[in-house]
Amino acid sequence: MKERILFLSDLHDCHIHWYGTTTEARLEKMVKDVEAAGHFDQLIVMGDVSLDFWGWNEGGSYLQETPRSNTDHFMKTYMPRLPKPSCIIPGNHEQYGVGKWREITGWGREYVLETKCALFIAVDGYSGNLDPTEHSDGTYQPVNCDFIEKAMADCPDKPVFLLSHFFEMNKESDRFKALLKNNERILALMVGHTHRSAVLDAGEDTGHKPILQCGNYSYSGEKEPGICFWGWRELIFEDDGTVRSFYHTPYSEYHHGDGSFVQEEGDQDQWTAQ
Ligand SMILES: [Fe+2]
Repeated sequence: MKERILFLSDLHDCHIHWYGTTTEARLEKMVKDVEAAGHFDQLIVMGDVSLDFWGWNEGGSYLQETPRSNTDHFMKTYMPRLPKPSCIIPGNHEQYGVGKWREITGWGREYVLETKCALFIAVDGYSGNLDPTEHSDGTYQPVNCDFIEKAMADCPDKPVFLLSHFFEMNKESDRFKALLKNNERILALMVGHTHRSAVLDAGEDTGHKPILQCGNYSYSGEKEPGICFWGWRELIFEDDGTVRSFYHTPYSEYHHGDGSFVQEEGDQDQWTAQ
């Protein structure tokens, strides 16, 4: 194997304790599970490490309890214990402006990451109305095509993966869709946000680009148990040039109102570059 990359998403360090487990115990389990999985060459955190900005106004958020920033808490408490080198992109619950986001995480809201085998271009789907004074779940804006095109021109050889906490394709520009359709080098879009782990199709007008969802370590997106499992997505660059990906679920026990269930360790939602 030439390179092994780990994608974690929707970790939600916050005041809500899902599945009968405290946030602290849940994130502690995440760190231990990742540790047990062996060596990774790169970690990419796909956003929503907190609920610092959110639309439900139920407490625990940055706007209500400033200067309590769970993003800052995550960066200081858990990020140092995860594989290195590491980087992070913002989610719709991290609506910090460019300056504050960099102050907390050390990263821009957009950037380019070149690894041994690929070029990762991080763009910012939820870039609207940053540093808000009102609660919301984020404002989507079409991603920055100039930024993507320049990054690809600066590094013309490697396969490309586009990262955003999410790509809302129904709000995306025709230019972005054409960019996807016309560039075979773009192998896939990587996203979090839905808490799901399936591989989706971005649509005919994108040339059917795959969307690789990166799951969660928090709760089911529909607040129903048994839909979204704790885990992470891996991207593997093999020695023979094959690029493949899957969602890994470590053994987990979930407790909810009506009972409990177990997710056995396994890999699901596979993808291989065509
Ligand atoms: Fe999200």
